[in-house]
Amino acid sequence: MKNVHSYGDSPLFQPLVLGDLRLRNRIVMSPMSRNRARADDLPTALMATYYTQRASAGLIISESAQVSPQGKGYRNSPGIYAADQVAAWKTVVDGVHAAGGVMFLQLWHAGRSSHPDLQPDGGMPVGPSAIRPAVEVFTDAGLKAAPTPRALELREIPVVIEQYRQAARNALAAGFDGVEIHAGNGFLLDQFLRDGANRRQDAYGGSIANRTRLLLEIVSAVGTIWPSHRVGVRVSPTATYGDIVDSDPGALYGHLVRELNRFRLAYLHITEGELLSTRESPGMDFSALREAFDGVVISNNCYGFQDAEDVVRSGSVGMVSFGRPYIANPDLVERLRRGVALSDFDPSTLHDGGARGYTDYPPIDQPPIAQPQTVSPQIDMTDNG
Ligand SMILES: Cc1cc2nc3c(=O)[nH]c(=O)nc-3n(C[C@H](O)[C@H](O)[C@H](O)COP(=O)(O)O)c2cc1C
Repeated sequence: MKNVHSYGDSPLFQPLVLGDLRLRNRIVMSPMSRNRARADDLPTALMATYYTQRASAGLIISESAQVSPQGKGYRNSPGIYAADQVAAWKTVVDGVHAAGGVMFLQLWHAGRSSHPDLQPDGGMPVGPSAIRPAVEVFTDAGLKAAPTPRALELREIPVVIEQYRQAARNALAAGFDGVEIHAGNGFLLDQFLRDGANRRQDAYGGSIANRTRLLLEIVSAVGTIWPSHRVGVRVSPTATYGDIVDSDPGALYGHLVRELNRFRLAYLHITEGELLSTRESPGMDFSALREAFDGVVISNNCYGFQDAEDVVRSGSVGMVSFGRPYIANPDLVERLRRGVALSDFDPSTLHDGGARGYTDYPPIDQPPIAQPQTVSPQIDMTDNG
């Protein structure tokens, strides 16, 4: 991605009041799993360096953090369910705060997009229904096909809700500024939402009201820990990442947004179109969805500077989130402000490599810390989201 103009006066650089938070600009660092946590789900000092380097974003949303051991869906992803994880996350958040940043934690349960290698005692991953997704999962032994999941029993659902509540409490203890509930990208809450993955015949399946129930109960539970203006929700209504579809996304997400409006959330984070490839989405009216939400919308997917500026200027979204541009451009805000070219990232170090391809991308005013291989940013859709 190249910028040839300087857009220093763009609305993207205007502050935004988000609930009781004042954000420095409208540029959000989108959540990105980079798999630099320890094998036992503990966040690392390297992660603190990485996020602190990116603290000039108006808002950082952390990579997915599993709310329970069962919620894990790739190797070396951080947890938010244990006391030592809270302490380790605190180091990350303290670094971001010391650099003037604001950071939310993304609460995640992978559901069926997992593998016994990643599950406690080698158990089967769980989902709303025993429907096997055509996805490959990033394990210690490489990519492995996800098996047919075990359908969660009705009596297990309150346990999952309590895991989210406890994870939200842990995020508060770690010092985060808020939490984002991940209900997109084919993970557990998305699996309950969309009828391609949810064939349940109880109160959590079937009608749209039933399929949205789990997410809404989790929003309520998290709202007992955090004020609602510190809670965001992420959705990806037409993304098929995770081998998931819905027969009527307009009706499903229209209903969901009307229900979410009752909570006065911090924001709704919407990935439009197909994740990582296009915002085009025949059959789904994303502008109507944005309009229907009474609050700040964060728009995502394949934005460059100009279209991000246009959409914020149009007033239909409050902020835009950038994922891939943040990988090799820790000072993305400054680069966009000055209109300098953005660096490409090395796809071979997206999910591996320690500091290499993670914390060694320099800001513009510094000489390169290392010489990352610069190749075109094609990435493997099988192992992130
Ligand atoms: C390496 C990588 C990891 C990702 N991990 C997550 C994640 O943990 N949680 C999430 O909600 N989205 C995740 N995503 C999706 C991004 O947040 C974002 O939606 C996507 O990259 C599209 O935005 P972009 O076009 O600005 O890159 C990931 C994307 C990439 C490239």
